[in-house]
Amino acid sequence: MNSLATRHAPDVALPLAHFLTGVAAALLGGLALLAWAPRLLAQPVGAFPTLAVTHLFTLGWLAMTIVGATYQMVPVVLEVQLRSERLARAGYPVLLAGAALMVAGFWTARVALLIAGGACAVAALVVYAGHIIATALGAHPRARVAQRFILAATAYLVLVGVLGGLLIAAFRWNLVHADLLPVHAVTALLGWATILAMGAAYRLTPMFALSHGHGDGAAALVLPLVAVGTLVVLLGLLLGWPRAVMAVAGLPPCAAIAVFVRDQWAFLRTRRRPHLDTGLRLTMAATLYLAATAAVAWLGLAGLWRPGHGAVVILGLLGWLGCLVAGQTYKIVPFLVWYRRYAARAGREKVPLLREMYDERLAALGMWGLAAAGLVLAAGAAAGTPWLQRLGAVCWLVGYGVLAWNLGQVLRA
Ligand code: HEM
Repeated sequence: MNSLATRHAPDVALPLAHFLTGVAAALLGGLALLAWAPRLLAQPVGAFPTLAVTHLFTLGWLAMTIVGATYQMVPVVLEVQLRSERLARAGYPVLLAGAALMVAGFWTARVALLIAGGACAVAALVVYAGHIIATALGAHPRARVAQRFILAATAYLVLVGVLGGLLIAAFRWNLVHADLLPVHAVTALLGWATILAMGAAYRLTPMFALSHGHGDGAAALVLPLVAVGTLVVLLGLLLGWPRAVMAVAGLPPCAAIAVFVRDQWAFLRTRRRPHLDTGLRLTMAATLYLAATAAVAWLGLAGLWRPGHGAVVILGLLGWLGCLVAGQTYKIVPFLVWYRRYAARAGREKVPLLREMYDERLAALGMWGLAAAGLVLAAGAAAGTPWLQRLGAVCWLVGYGVLAWNLGQVLRA
């Protein structure tokens, strides 16, 4: 695979709609943090306004972008056609409605809205997961490692939906549910998003950096360590294991992350493309965030240092996944637009290069905003310092604002 598109890829309008919606949600989330971060981060875990903003990010931005990216990348990486492009297109408005209603339901504390939104979001994500699993089962034999990452992560997504649905049902029918909150959050951020992002990075970083010859690195070892390790951590959270046992349970996912980070740096060190563009720099920043998140989360599990639940979620969600998703957006969206507009004309007439479709210097500036946002916000959350929290929101808005501006340029190119 040496391109982001093959004859297997779906119509580019499908991933594009998801990416653009994701960017809009990221900007709205940043504005919400700018206006209310001190209030939101001072609330106890599980407070409704905080959950509204959390799900604006997790469903509106992260899930929306990942769903769009996988509809584009799974057929390309696994060399197989999507089972049903029509089903994929039908899922977009359902996920959008689910995210919007859930955010509105949490924000206004109206459980009826929350149930309607939760039903749409769970339905959209579970149908998407079934679709991706059915598609991935037909993968080409040479894509086995990537296939396993996708299957494991997508199975965790089903669990995210089931747990989310149970948590909402618990609000309505007053069931005891306190222990499911960390289980749902870890399943979503580690089991689903991180495993999928690792699998994607194992394929995409060598491709974008032109650093071939490493094969899949240690991907075949990393996957069982992180997938089974996550399951053990979840069991420990559910059963309330003592801290010393949780510290041991947390070691396999941390080891997997350490090997993954080492592999990503090896891909970048041995690249044949000397220029590191914004997309690749953001991938490097993302891997540093992943290492930091794993270290802080492990210290928390072991009871050695607890900077607060919010700080860990911010490091993982806005730091690791924020930088990675923005970096991949810079790589994938210009390509999709170029492919749609110019692929047929390339070679016969002058067409723009990918890097000419947006302002790379502005992108490099915005990158610093994204690279700083997770750290500044997490530090602000841990220290309870409102001005740091607001500064972190500004950094995020600068990063995503520049990304949105550049995507506008790409669409006009
Ligand atoms: C499938 C749709 C989803 C539903 C119905 C759902 C539902 C919920 C509910 C009800 C809670 C609050 C639990 C409580 O206070 O006891 C919660 C928390 C949380 N959810 Fe979701 N969720 C969904 C998807 C996601 C996704 C895709 C992610 C991440 C990628 C995510 C990340 C989180 C996090 C991090 C928290 C904890 C927030 C905090 O720390 O305050 N959720 N979710």
